[in-house]
Amino acid sequence: MRLLILLGLLWGFSAALQDPKWPEPVFGRLASPGFPGEYPNNQEKRWALTAPPGYRLRLYFTHFHLEPSYRCEYDFVKLSAGTRLLATLCGRETTDTERAPGNDSFYSPGSSLDVTFRSDYSNEKPFSGFEAFYAAEDVDECLQPPGGTPPCDHHCHNHLGGFYCSCRAGYALQRDRRTCSALCSGQVFTGRSGVLSSPEYPRPYPKLSRCTYSIRLEEGFSITLDFVESFDVEAHPDTQCPYDSLKIQTDKEEWGPLCGNTLPRRIETKSHAVTVTFVTDDSGDHTGWRIRYSSTARPCPDPVAPPHGRISPVQAAYVLRDRVSVACEPGYELLQGQLPLKSFVAVCRKDGSWDQPMPECSIVDCGPPEDLPSGRVEYVTGPEVTTYRAAIQYRCNETFYAMRAGDGKYVCAADGFWTSSKGEKSLPACEPVCGLSARATGGRIYGGQAAKPGDFPWQVLLAGEGIAAGALLSDKWVLTAAHAVYEKREDAPALDIRMGTLNRRSRHYTQARAEAVFIHEGYAHGAGFDHDIALIKLKDKVAVNGNVRPICLPGSAAEAFMRPDAIGTASGWGVTQRGFPALSLMFVDVPVVDHQRCREAYERQRHPGGRVTANMLCAGLEGGGRDSCRGDSGGALVFLDNETERWFVGGIVSWGAIHCGAAGQYGVYTKVMNYIPWIENIIHNF
Ligand code: ARG
Repeated sequence: MRLLILLGLLWGFSAALQDPKWPEPVFGRLASPGFPGEYPNNQEKRWALTAPPGYRLRLYFTHFHLEPSYRCEYDFVKLSAGTRLLATLCGRETTDTERAPGNDSFYSPGSSLDVTFRSDYSNEKPFSGFEAFYAAEDVDECLQPPGGTPPCDHHCHNHLGGFYCSCRAGYALQRDRRTCSALCSGQVFTGRSGVLSSPEYPRPYPKLSRCTYSIRLEEGFSITLDFVESFDVEAHPDTQCPYDSLKIQTDKEEWGPLCGNTLPRRIETKSHAVTVTFVTDDSGDHTGWRIRYSSTARPCPDPVAPPHGRISPVQAAYVLRDRVSVACEPGYELLQGQLPLKSFVAVCRKDGSWDQPMPECSIVDCGPPEDLPSGRVEYVTGPEVTTYRAAIQYRCNETFYAMRAGDGKYVCAADGFWTSSKGEKSLPACEPVCGLSARATGGRIYGGQAAKPGDFPWQVLLAGEGIAAGALLSDKWVLTAAHAVYEKREDAPALDIRMGTLNRRSRHYTQARAEAVFIHEGYAHGAGFDHDIALIKLKDKVAVNGNVRPICLPGSAAEAFMRPDAIGTASGWGVTQRGFPALSLMFVDVPVVDHQRCREAYERQRHPGGRVTANMLCAGLEGGGRDSCRGDSGGALVFLDNETERWFVGGIVSWGAIHCGAAGQYGVYTKVMNYIPWIENIIHNF
């Protein structure tokens, strides 16, 4: 069938819908001339279909009936793209040698498709031709053709008309917009050992990357590199590593470029600073490399602990920067060049030497023990041995002194202090033994008799215009009557305190000076004798001897020895029956008088001394004759404690009958027992 070419041109659709503006839809219809009537002979018709870039064309036939011929040599529809033939179609059904479109869709490989229809001369039965439709379709570039190269290194994103690539974190998209190169430069390693490898190892390393690894250790270390596991870097049989290469550099040497498939040998860099550079090109699929590095430094000699010392930490080797400390056993101390150290740490230097010599552990020395006042020290462990664990024994001077507490055993402790078994670091105290007298028990001041040396070693003479007395309580304190020292209370140093003498005029006595006078706060001068008690603090300790010794204070059992009729002894230089103060010390034994009776005796008399209070003690004979007297004031009325065989002060000479030794009246003494807390408080606090 023949028809004018002009007709065919009029019937065809223009396929060139090349509007660049997206997304103008691109679609259309193609048909044989005269369709749906039979097509003319000798036709040649061509459609050049074009889709926008990133799109392809789909073509499918809704009707197809062409003259069948062997290999479609007569009439046909030909689909092609440029020089590439996609299909030649004829007939109605596909046979062994010819193809008809059937229900197939045809796709352009790119964005254009050429469709050609041809008919030759024919006198066969009429053929109705074809009708086809086409449309532009987006190409999913991300759908990787099997076996082909993926469009992107990492992630592919399709969009209408195109696609774009992106990279995983740590990678950057290259200028080609599809290659991902690793961001792997400037990696720094400072550990003494470590592992570095190509990115993604053991998966293929990235393309177009330049990775640098810097191992930076302190000077003195030497780094060794070991290639481990596998090595696979793209190589070339003739040229040395033209594609991808691994280089290792120090400031003095360079190794590489390395590539290929065999593990390179160990590299001993002899340097503390190594740079590894790995460069890759834009192609290849190789797994890369892994390096384990280690470092050594010149080891320092093994530290040897000094005797009695310990080293820490203990390790197999000590290299640069390693520290070692030395501690001594208890009782030993660090010493370096004669100088004691609080602690010791040595550091291994880069040249393999310790920055300090080992110290010594020298035994702690407590030094010569302090002298013990009124005592001495004996070495137990050995003469003059004063080192750790040495023992010493403190002793108080015999006869006159006794240790207040503890056994006097001290040991040199690890802290360098002499320490008692109770953990005390202070010296023991030697106190004068109280209440010892040379007197054969059994004795007047008024009606008294003369004392012998050592009978009343506690006797204190308060010399002056009017004489008075006191009793030594310790080597620092004198007990007396408030009324005896009242006038001197503000001028303690003016007191003339004498001890250790019998004769009041003797020039051989122990002189003491007062530091302070403490009058009982309840004492009212000139208004009776209640609270007639006072303490004198001595400026210096008095030396105790057979003639100078303290009197004991009454203990808890004292009352029992001071019941009515119990005998107390008063001593002093007071007025005697001859009417003058005695020159030599006198004493008198007087029985304690029932308190009630004594009080009544003075109530009858209306004595200027006033009342007998509960703080007073009376002693004397009903018939008189034995008494203390003026000048005896402040002296002690002592009793013997049968249990301890020591004398204690039960009373202080205070007041009494105006005519000393008068019958029916008694000597009145301050009852010391009532003042123990007062005394202790003052002695303790001053
Ligand atoms: N007050 C007198 C003196 O200053 C002591 C009196 C003692 N008299 C006596 N009868 N006990 O020495």
